[in-house]
Amino acid sequence: MIIRRSAVVATGSYLPERRITNQELADRLDTSDAWIRERTGIMQRHVAAEGETTSDLACHAARRALARGGLGVADIDCIVVATATPDYTFPATATQVQAMLGMTHGFALDVHAVCTGFVYGLAVADNFIRLGQANRVLLVGAETFSRILDWDDRSTCVLFGDGAGAVVLEPATGDCGVLSTHLHSDGRYRDMLHVDGGPSTTRHVGHLKMNGREVFRHATRKLTEVVEEALLANEIEASAVDWLVPHQANRRIIDATARKLGLASDRVIVTIDRHANTSAASIPLALAEATADGRISPGDLVLIEAMGGGFTWGAALIRWSATSRRGASATGEAAR
Ligand code: UT7
Repeated sequence: MIIRRSAVVATGSYLPERRITNQELADRLDTSDAWIRERTGIMQRHVAAEGETTSDLACHAARRALARGGLGVADIDCIVVATATPDYTFPATATQVQAMLGMTHGFALDVHAVCTGFVYGLAVADNFIRLGQANRVLLVGAETFSRILDWDDRSTCVLFGDGAGAVVLEPATGDCGVLSTHLHSDGRYRDMLHVDGGPSTTRHVGHLKMNGREVFRHATRKLTEVVEEALLANEIEASAVDWLVPHQANRRIIDATARKLGLASDRVIVTIDRHANTSAASIPLALAEATADGRISPGDLVLIEAMGGGFTWGAALIRWSATSRRGASATGEAAR
């Protein structure tokens, strides 16, 4: 069997139109723009319109990635959607996206690892391609966390936003592509960050609950460990990393990881100020922005990492493909 490697050849993203500033939240909650900015780096977040679903967001991002790649649905044989906020309990949101794209061949599945969903989805897509079970995979991270937030709980509702990012993966040529993926979970910590509802328990959707301080403590340690694991597995020094594209949960966590790697801040893709924490969508949103504005270019070494509910955490190293078409950002501009 020939072992193949996968490469990201196109990116796209989508953010809902409605933006909520910190000040809007401070107008009705016991919080302030200063607290949110200083403790998290967040200035605003996008929120899906009434009736706008995770699959709607995913589809917009997917269409933009396909257009950027000069590809049609006939060129895709697998769709993976990473989400913790599916349209329905079942079927998978990925099958909804498949139908919306007008694709009747291939297969589609959801991956659920909350904020680590995109890294898990990348591992799944990469392995399908390596094994020859799929040839070209559309991988989407899409979330509508606004639907699972308690908007009266200042300790959580200020932190999250909605959005979607998509990448297309195909067999790599040359040295480029996904070099390795590294996944971890430890279910002992499942209560630290969870939604207090579900079909087999309360039968309600529930609300997000988080012990922020504990999650923060674990995140800084686990992210450093998994990033070191990825570098070691490839015998690569941190100084060789061109871009760190971290999950965007808290600016202080991002800065701590970059500092430990010795990476200058201009080597880190940051979107948390405008997007807040979009869970599984945060990394593909950042990848789309940084390819669209030309920061990430062919040959660059890109390190992604994330940590989230479960706990789940993971990292991947990607040598950006020479054949990568430039990305399509959320609005077609790099700014939003
Ligand atoms: O994406 C999945 C992974 N998620 C994360 O990685 C999130 C990790 N955690 C965090 O980012 C931070 O822990 C938070 C941003 C959630 C909280 O920041 P913190 O510096 O850890 O604050 P804290 O929880 O220690 O709270 C400090 C104070 C508390 O008041 P007291 O007890 O000191 O009087 C909170 O009640 O800040 C208070 N507080 C707020 N004040 C104003 C909590 N939320 C707010 C708020 N506005 N929105």
